Amino acid sequence: MKSFLYFIGVLIVIFVIFQFIPSYEKANPTFDKTKEIKISKDLKSIFKKSCYDCHSFETNWPWYADVAPMKWVVRRDVVEGRKALNFSIWDSYPNAKKEELKKKIFRSINLAMPLPQYLWLHPDAKLSSDDKKKVQNWASNGKGYIKMEVR
Ligand code: HEC
Repeated sequence: MKSFLYFIGVLIVIFVIFQFIPSYEKANPTFDKTKEIKISKDLKSIFKKSCYDCHSFETNWPWYADVAPMKWVVRRDVVEGRKALNFSIWDSYPNAKKEELKKKIFRSINLAMPLPQYLWLHPDAKLSSDDKKKVQNWASNGKGYIKMEVR
């Protein structure tokens, strides 16, 4: 019993020390709304539901974004996600970048996006096959398919 309490004590100390380890910044910077992506309401609501938490400046930060060790994962996903694709500043991307990102969006939703660790806690963010069709139709500029390079 004594060693068990000792063990719990050590865990608590480690947990407290964790809280002082610096992490990525948690912020929703203000942005120029005119640069936000311009798409149909329908598509926007799909992206808002499933992608905006990591791919926009309008992140809904969960409480565990303030608690280590979870905050390390959550904040990193948001920082890296915004770097890769940010719908809040979409219209400031050059056209070539938009087209490249559309291809990546088309591909990413088949498997990788939203990230699995996000879906555990946000099961509603999972895209339905109807959502996927709408997103892929937009991403392929109405063609419904995208020519993929063979690697
Ligand atoms: C939990 C956070 C999170 C959510 C939710 C999320 N993503 Fe991501 N996404 C990331 C991260 C992190 C990266 C960067 C991964 C990397 O560069 O390795 C990324 C990268 C991407 C990329 C770029 C891939 C590449 O090859 O450069 C695309 C496209 C993308 N996400 C699309 C989406 C779409 C579409 C959704 C919604 C259906 C979505 N993501 C939801 C975190 C997320």
